[in-house]
Amino acid sequence: MNGNFTKLRGMKDILPDEIELWQRVEKAFIEVCEIFGFKEIRTPILENKYLFVRGIGATSDIVMKEMYEFKDKKGREIALRPEGTASVVRAYIENKVYITKKIARFYYYGPMFRYDRPQKGRYRQFYQFGVETFGGKHPFFDGEIVQILDISLKKIGIENFVFIVNSLGCRICKNKYVEQIKKNLQEKIDKFCEDCKIRIEKNPLRVFDCKNTFCKENLKEVPSILNYLCDDCKNHFDTFVNFLLKFNINFSINSNLVRGLDYYTRTVFEVSTEKDDIAIAGGGRYDNLVEEMGGPDIPAVGFAAGIDRIVQFIKKEDKEEKKPVYFILLGNNAKLKGLEILKECIKEKIMVEVDYEERSLSDNLRIANKIGVKWCLILGDNEIEKGIMILKNMKDGYQIEVNEKEIIKKLKEITKC
Ligand code: HAM
Repeated sequence: MNGNFTKLRGMKDILPDEIELWQRVEKAFIEVCEIFGFKEIRTPILENKYLFVRGIGATSDIVMKEMYEFKDKKGREIALRPEGTASVVRAYIENKVYITKKIARFYYYGPMFRYDRPQKGRYRQFYQFGVETFGGKHPFFDGEIVQILDISLKKIGIENFVFIVNSLGCRICKNKYVEQIKKNLQEKIDKFCEDCKIRIEKNPLRVFDCKNTFCKENLKEVPSILNYLCDDCKNHFDTFVNFLLKFNINFSINSNLVRGLDYYTRTVFEVSTEKDDIAIAGGGRYDNLVEEMGGPDIPAVGFAAGIDRIVQFIKKEDKEEKKPVYFILLGNNAKLKGLEILKECIKEKIMVEVDYEERSLSDNLRIANKIGVKWCLILGDNEIEKGIMILKNMKDGYQIEVNEKEIIKKLKEITKC
């Protein structure tokens, strides 16, 4: 190893220049979620591997191919979370939230990890903002989270996005449909790619996720899942769709949408933009997961949005960034005096940047110019002797002498705009 380290494939650094975009996206989601009564939850990034095997499905691509897994020092099987839902479900059950809350609404955001083939918009460490609602069977709960996503994306400034929606039915409808298409697909199994041949046997719904054009073509003749819904599931879907209509949410129904995680029942949806058909968010209902993971029989619904993908669509705002006052402290006495002023600035929330290195005035001014600050506070032995400080405006070069007793008042004044 030669010591020249680079980031791992599929990972990225987000530098301060770009971070404003990420914070804007997170802030928009948080604000909207809190209006709807959602509360933040933070779960560990590391979990027992089998939480995801059970939760997401042993035959899903995420579990079979994409999980970062390892053994810890005691030989326990650990995974880096590939998504947030399974962890939130675990936390909900483990902390018995259902005892105190009939309806529990959570939001979360943070890094997720999938050992996928990196490409535009697909990373191995990526960030999601997600919500999960527990305890609500009514389709308006599904509508509510779609509405949250819709309002948040508009607030962020994403344009021309559409919700693709579908219903997978309850466990009974879904199983009936799976049996039916398994038969259909087995009849022409030779026409499918090698991966799909395995999927047809093990988990036929996963064939709908295949990107292979031949496989897609062969799916055109399979029956629609919407024709397999029982009356309750049909009503659920119709009511959900009416909710979307009532709130003018831009959507289209696609009965081939199955989603890549096995826990879904009834409503599923994805959001993509007209510019790019890559999904910026996805979610749905998972009425059996809480029980399957050892909890009571409690329905749930949620979504997760890909922050990396959303950030690609937005630009930095033109508004003038607030810049600090740059302190130039020439000599030891000035540095000590500067610390006193700094203490006051912190109290008054005046943004300040100090370079404590010993440099000449001209070097300091050059650095201040590079940073692009508007004001420098200059203090040397002369100024200390006179009981003044100099404030230099870096835009037009004029400078004023300020009595040291007045300096905080003056700093407040000039940094207000
Ligand atoms: P998902 O569809 O796997 O769903 O991921 C949600 C979103 O995360 C995707 O729409 C995409 O924007 C983003 N995403 C996924 N993989 C990557 C990647 N490799 N690089 C960049 N972005 C990515 C879930 O994770 C479910 N837990 C959603 C959910 C919550 N369902 C119910 N509750």
